[in-house]
Amino acid sequence: MLRTHNCGELRESHIGQTVTLSGWAQAIRDKGGLIWIDIRDRYGITQLLIEDDGNAAAELLETARKVGREFVLKATGEVIERAAKNPNIPTGNIEMRLSGLEILNGAQTPPFKIEDETDGGDELRMKYRYLDIRRNPVREKLVLRHKIAQEVRRYLSDQDFIEVETPVLIKSTPEGARDFLVPSRMNPGEFYALPQSPQTFKQLLMVGGMDRYFQIVKCFRDEDLRADRQPEFTQIDCEMAFVDREDIINNFEGMMRHLFKMVKDIELPTFPQMEYADAMRDYGSDKPDTRFEMKFVDLNDLAKNKGFKIFDAAEIVLGICAKGAASYTRKQIDELTKWVQRPQIGAKGLVYVKCNEDGSFKSSVDKFYSQEDLKAWADKAGAEAGDLILVLSGELDVTRKQMCELRLEMGQRLGLRDPFNYSPLWVINFPMFEKDEETGHYHAMHHPFTSVLPDDAEILKTDRYNARANAYDMVINGVEVGGGSIRIHDKSDQADMFDALGFTPEEAQEQFGFLMNAFEYGAPPHGGIALGFDRLCSLFGGVDSIRDFIAFPKNTSGRDVMIESPSAADNQQLSDLSIQLDIKE
Ligand code: AMO
Repeated sequence: MLRTHNCGELRESHIGQTVTLSGWAQAIRDKGGLIWIDIRDRYGITQLLIEDDGNAAAELLETARKVGREFVLKATGEVIERAAKNPNIPTGNIEMRLSGLEILNGAQTPPFKIEDETDGGDELRMKYRYLDIRRNPVREKLVLRHKIAQEVRRYLSDQDFIEVETPVLIKSTPEGARDFLVPSRMNPGEFYALPQSPQTFKQLLMVGGMDRYFQIVKCFRDEDLRADRQPEFTQIDCEMAFVDREDIINNFEGMMRHLFKMVKDIELPTFPQMEYADAMRDYGSDKPDTRFEMKFVDLNDLAKNKGFKIFDAAEIVLGICAKGAASYTRKQIDELTKWVQRPQIGAKGLVYVKCNEDGSFKSSVDKFYSQEDLKAWADKAGAEAGDLILVLSGELDVTRKQMCELRLEMGQRLGLRDPFNYSPLWVINFPMFEKDEETGHYHAMHHPFTSVLPDDAEILKTDRYNARANAYDMVINGVEVGGGSIRIHDKSDQADMFDALGFTPEEAQEQFGFLMNAFEYGAPPHGGIALGFDRLCSLFGGVDSIRDFIAFPKNTSGRDVMIESPSAADNQQLSDLSIQLDIKE
């Protein structure tokens, strides 16, 4: 038997028992007469003791002295009370006095410390990901992911959802990113695309009468990576027939409440619903972080036409009120100004108004604005003595984006973004279309299978690019956790949509004929949502990056540095696939 217990299990109640543990040597201390080895596995750490008291077998001592960090051991011995207890670990009251020790496998010295606080940089830890996974913080994240997946399956199965697998070798599904292509050996010159999502298949399952579908599924998108994006990521993908928006919202708000209760013992409030247009106006973002207020204040009518040319020329003058920040020093404000002027934000400058304790105001634009003017700003911004108003101006969309960044930064600096304080909401009524300013083409803001908001059905006929979609996003703490829509289920509506997106009828038929044909065979009204599973896990874990919640993630260049992929294919493989490379060195 390789083990009778695991390394996190033994307590005082086991004292006197002879047990066997297997695991990795985390630390070795050789004090001559006494050798201690900490043995570790997924469940915890136990201290092993080898006493050179003249009675110990020479072989045992010899083996113990060969053990190095991360050696794989099998240890047998008696559980005894520890002389020096360690209150920091659950097994800290006991240790094991060894009667047998076997080295199951040796190990090279690991390239970084396999401890909670490691000295290994990101790239190194990725290269040796299997060692990184031995560390508690990484292992705990994978365990959390497993728990959430289990609860998702339980909740949805209880609601009559059926998990159906959809194919991975498919053709392009337009979700707005580039496809990963896979050449087909049997069909020279032709390619499969990996799914950006199972969108069309889940709709076909509704036509197939499956009624309630879900899948925890890998999706592939060839897009630039960020902390919250990976080229392959996982969705909790769901679709329902015979539903309207409220049905979907109720179901998935319910699921989220279930997950937070079961996994974190947190009762989430009812999710408020916010119009897309209001989110953009008040927060400059379609995924507002509502853990704190600090809404945008439109200062156009108060700040313009007072002789300050920059504001006069601006399309919008926007302010935010940072509570309690009037005590910011000159240096802090200069630093904040530099922060908004960095190329990533791109603001030209930053205007401030300090609301002094004595009721007066001090601003960077005192030359142009009287105390009464500034009081009017403060009143509009809800600013009181002790608060700081920060103002940006310029073109509407650009200024909103910049102010959104500044608001989040101020929220951070003022400690208003506690990762374990969860503020969920739905953002609804997105525009149906989005114009690409460079090409002048319109894209579907969600995807081309999204139906129009019932209230905007007439607008879709007369002024289609201004219609709103029956689409919704679930947002928690400024993270877009998921998105979905009520779908088009009528062939001619779908054809109109493709027309609006600039497809000729032939192109639409060629790419999506299978779906439009299916709509001719009794497609039920249907809708759904997909939640970003990795993002959900990182929210539960209270960190921004999704990488640690993925067992084997890619780095920011889309590379797996452990297995070294992507990699070149050899000539034979390429010729089997009828591919000729023409890469100039
Ligand atoms: P959407 O494109 O909004 O919708 O994707 C759904 C959710 O998936 C997550 N997500 C990602 N997570 C990590 N890395 C990525 N590269 C990445 N891209 C997206 C986000 C996002 O909200 N078929 C539709 C859903 C539907 O209409 O039902 C879709 O895929 O959390």
